[in-house]
Formats: sequence, C-alpha cells, structure tokens
Amino acid sequence: MQVSVIVLAAGQGTRMNSDLPKVLHLVASAPLLHHALNTAQSLDPSRIVTVTGHGGEAVAASALAFSEAVETVVQDPQLGTAHAVAQAAPLLADTEGEAIVLYADTPLIREDTLRAMLAARARHGVVVLGFHAKDPGRYGRLIAEGETLLKITEWKDATEPERAITLCNSGVICAEAKTLFSLIAEVGNDNAAGEYYLTDIVQLARARGLSAGVVLCDEDETLGVNTRAQLAEAEAAFQTRARAEALENGVTLTAPETVFFALDTWVGRDAIIGPNVLFGPGVTIESGAEIKGFCHLEGCHISRGATVGPFARLRPGAELAEDVHVGNFVEIKNAILEEGVKVGHLTYIGDADVGEHSNIGAGTITCNYDGVMKHRTTIGKRAFIGSDTMLVAPVTVGDDAMTGSGSVITEDVPAEAVAIGRSRQINKPGLATRMFEKLKAIKASKAKGH
Ligand code: UD1
Ligand code: CA
Repeated sequence: MQVSVIVLAAGQGTRMNSDLPKVLHLVASAPLLHHALNTAQSLDPSRIVTVTGHGGEAVAASALAFSEAVETVVQDPQLGTAHAVAQAAPLLADTEGEAIVLYADTPLIREDTLRAMLAARARHGVVVLGFHAKDPGRYGRLIAEGETLLKITEWKDATEPERAITLCNSGVICAEAKTLFSLIAEVGNDNAAGEYYLTDIVQLARARGLSAGVVLCDEDETLGVNTRAQLAEAEAAFQTRARAEALENGVTLTAPETVFFALDTWVGRDAIIGPNVLFGPGVTIESGAEIKGFCHLEGCHISRGATVGPFARLRPGAELAEDVHVGNFVEIKNAILEEGVKVGHLTYIGDADVGEHSNIGAGTITCNYDGVMKHRTTIGKRAFIGSDTMLVAPVTVGDDAMTGSGSVITEDVPAEAVAIGRSRQINKPGLATRMFEKLKAIKASKAKGH
C-alpha cells in the first residue's frame, strides 16, 4: 500500500512561552518534530511532507537533518490545520494511495496504531484517531456512535454537553490522498477561532455519502504538547515506554526509573545498565556491554564486553571496541579505543587513537587544544601511559612504549622506548625535621600574641 504522510509543524505554540518554535523543543533528546517524522518513517512511506510556518527555516532545517528525503512546504500565514494540509496539495494532490496527517506536537503515536487506521480505511472513507481522555481539557470532542464518527467539535465551539464528552480527537487523520485534498478544499473558517479546521472534513465527507470512522488508542499515545507541563509529561511517557521496551528486549536495568533514553538509543540484548544513566542522541551499545551508574553518554558506540563507569562521560565520536574498560571520572571525546584498552580513572582522552591493549594511567590528559586548533594524539598497541601524563598533541606514542608518571610529552615517543619528561628528584637529608621545628616555633610565638 502506498502511503504519504503530512506532518503539521507550522503552529506558533504560544502556550510554550518560548522563543523556540514549539516543534523544536526536545523530548528524549530529539525535537518533537523528529518523533513525528520517526513514526512517519516507520510506515515506509513514499513521501513525507512537513508543513512549516512559525520559525520555518529552523523547522525545515531540522526536518532535513532527520532525513534528506523529507520535503517541506511553507504555510504563511497560519490559518489552521486544514489550511496547513492544503499547503501540501501542490506536492501530493495527485498521488495515488493513502494520506496520513500527523501533528508534530504529538510525539508518542505508535506505528501499530497508524497501521490499524490504514486497515480501518477498508470500512470508512475518513479515519480519525481518537482516545478517551481523563481530563479532556481543550481537545476537540468526537461525536460518535460506536465506530462511526458523526462530527468533531473543537473545544472553543463546543456546547456544555459536548464539552462533557471525553472521547477526544488526537489530530491524526487518514484518507485516500485525493479525497483528503478535495475535502480540504471545501473547509471554511466560520467558527469561534476563525480558522480552517481539519476536523471539519468529517462532516464534509459524510455530506458526500462517505463514512467516517474512529480508531481508538491509549491516551498516553496522543498526548499533544502545548505547554511546558505537557512537554514534561511527554518526556515521562516516552521514558516509561522506552524502559519497558528495553527490559522486554533483554536489557537489564537495575533501576529503570532512573535511566533516560534518547529517541535513537540502541541497546543490545544482555547489556546491563546501572542506575542514573543518561543517553543523549546517537548512542549504540552492543550486547553484553555494561554501563555502571551515573554515566552520561552521547554520540558514542560501545562494543560487546566493554565496561563503562561508574561516573564516566562519553561524548560524540567516542568509539569503544570490544572489552575496553573506561572507569570512574573519565571523559572520552572523538577518540577510538581499540580492543582491550583500559582507561581506569580520572582521565581526559580527546581527539585520539589508542591501540589495542594499551593502558592509560590515572590522571592522564590529552592536551588536544592549543587555544585555536584541535590536535590528535596517537598511541600505539600495548603502550603503557604512566599516571598523570600530559600528552601535548599533536603527538604519537609508539607500540609497546611507556611514559613515566608525571611526564609532559611534547615529542613523539618511538616504539618500545620509555619517555620521561619531568624534572629530576632531589632528596635533602634531615631537612623535613628542621622545617617542621621552625614552623612550629613560628606558630607558638604567634599564639603568645607577638
Ligand atoms: C488540534 C485539533 C483538536 C485536537 C488537538 C489534538 C483542529 C482544528 N483541532 O487542536 O481537535 O484535539 O489538535 O492535539 O485540528 N498547525 C499548523 N498550522 C496551523 C495550525 C496548526 O501547522 O495553521 C500545526 C501545529 O504546529 C501543530 C498541529 O497543527 O503541530 C496542531 O495545532 P494546534 O494549534 O496545537 O491544534 P489544537 O488547538 O491543539
Ligand atoms: Ca495541539
């Protein structure tokens, strides 16, 4: 079945009280818009069109960042949801197959739900996704008899008895593309908001003798984000779902309610995630890796058998091969750690390549930034970097080489060599005792008030 998806993302989002367009606010480290596009993409659609308006350039750029296959059209001015869909007509009005309208401010719709809507199209000309709301607030109300939908009334236009209805409109609508655009063309704006309501196509379809139907889903799928409070609710709902999915997929979460996933986090079976771990965007974790408590991970890949943390920070471009160990208070950025590398404690590795089975001593720092440019550090295989080594990049340490503790390494170290870059130690016999006596005498004379 050929499907096109239209994602509405032009609205201003006044109630967010923000300079940022509403659909660019983040849930699970991804803009709301990307959640809708991700759901759209799960249907393997032939086209995805995003309608932008308020903050249009930034929204269009974000859509393209999600996928270059996403098309964008501008809605200016923004005259309502039907008017928004109409802007996609020049791109889609002649396409064969189904059209689904999604709202970019509704991030939690499931693929299965959309498939149920497509299936319901066999029984109805227009299919609307509805839900029973605990607190129906300002949602549009569905006036239905069983699965048959008679009308959608917007909150602003609803009578008191209609406002008492708890069956609400999610905003997701599905119809044949050609039918959708011809219905949209008939929508007027004679209502309380003076807007062109997408919801009016239900009555217009019925006037043509087409039936309209409602497919139901859980309320937590249809949560529309209009306020910061709802943004926080959407985050919580996403995390609840992501934790349940991880557990289902065979991931151990010691304290699931303290782990925060991103929209694109991928964790393999038999991975173990400790408490208070946060996943930013772009993290993949292979089977059997272990992330101990209090780690912050972003844009990194962790291979099978690796252990990370507690209290580690992996930043974009951190690549950990199999059986790598990264311990507490270690930060890794834009660096490749080959198989079996150990970075146990208190270390910064940035812009570096570390060869297999090398050991990085506590307190080591790759000095990668000269104040203007970034430089790379290359460490060979089986190297031993002594504790508190400063590796002033660009610099290379060869295979099987060593650096002495406390060294500042500014020149390349050949393979199998030991590099020591620190001042020589001098011992002065008896001096400590003489110093202590002198200092104690000074303290005592001060106490007498001199
Ligand atoms: C809409 C529905 C309401 C439903 C609710 C679910 C209509 C008329 N009302 O109301 O029945 O219960 O969603 O969340 O459809 N947008 C545009 N251009 C516009 C206006 C809106 O692109 O001119 C986009 C917004 O960016 C947003 C979506 O459409 O992603 C919904 O708009 P919003 O103004 O939030 O609609 P609601 O009043 O919540
Ligand atoms: Ca809304």
